Amino acid sequence: MYRNFVDTQDFTKEELLDMKDLGIKIKKYLKDGNYLDVLHHKTLGMIFEQKSTRTRVSFETAMEQLGGHAQYLAPGQIQLGAHESLYDTAKVLGRLTDILMARVIEHNSIVTLAKYAGVPVINGMSDYNHPTQELGDLITIFEHMPKDKRFEDLKIVFFGDATQVCASLGMLVTHLGGHFVQFGPKGFQLNEHFQEICRKNCEKYGGTFLITENLDEAIKDADFIYTDVWYGLYESELSEEERMKIFYPKYQVNMDVIKKASPNVKFMHCLPATRGEEVTDEVMDSEYSVVFDEAENRLTAMRALLVYFMGKEKETLEIIEGRN
Ligand code: CP
Repeated sequence: MYRNFVDTQDFTKEELLDMKDLGIKIKKYLKDGNYLDVLHHKTLGMIFEQKSTRTRVSFETAMEQLGGHAQYLAPGQIQLGAHESLYDTAKVLGRLTDILMARVIEHNSIVTLAKYAGVPVINGMSDYNHPTQELGDLITIFEHMPKDKRFEDLKIVFFGDATQVCASLGMLVTHLGGHFVQFGPKGFQLNEHFQEICRKNCEKYGGTFLITENLDEAIKDADFIYTDVWYGLYESELSEEERMKIFYPKYQVNMDVIKKASPNVKFMHCLPATRGEEVTDEVMDSEYSVVFDEAENRLTAMRALLVYFMGKEKETLEIIEGRN
């Protein structure tokens, strides 16, 4: 029986931490100059309904590094959306590939793919969530968190709009027992559905969850500050000018903000970033910024996911640990 990666909430805390550890082990093994061929003759089909830099390139590179092959199925290059339904596309691609990933406009599309493909399906971002970003971010947080803290001690603050990355981060942090804050204006805060998930996670795992418009309350003792773009993500949204008026300057991450947080605070961004809007150059290029490690860890996450979903975790660990 195979599994899908449509929503991290479907995975236990232990499974997510295992996937994080697997990614870190493979990363180190490859950086030490070793080769890993565990996905030889395996093919990943990559459906993209929207453009992408990090998600596309990290999946494709991961397959290459693991000895497999990835097929980029770009918008307009396959029959999906023309004569062919999503159901038929799922059934066909499930016969032609070993694993699928998709970046979709509507979340229901990834759910349909996962239901009918008959092979594992990984969500490469929908309008609801971005789970592969979450796994990469988890790895980055572990690599950069203060040495004297546990994940459960961390305060992670998201600045700005309740994008799918904000929602995913909130669900991840509370799922692992950490402390999550969204600092965002009314009308652009996580909706009741996500709030309920975060609240339930806190009851179960012991973290906290807060939405606030108060900057000082948000960033006091923050270990990580995270943001995302302010416009251009959805078709039915306010104009760029209207959204800029709502978010700028209050929700911009600049050096004044960084100085109010914990002295060891780290800055994260899923990228792409609009420098000068949600974040200044000064912060992006500062010692506080871990955004390029974060981008690299998309690859760390994809390798772990592909190995895990292709059933090669045990074999991979045996190779890495010298038992094979
Ligand atoms: N963060 C992220 O998903 O980047 P891409 O849109 O470039 O894939």
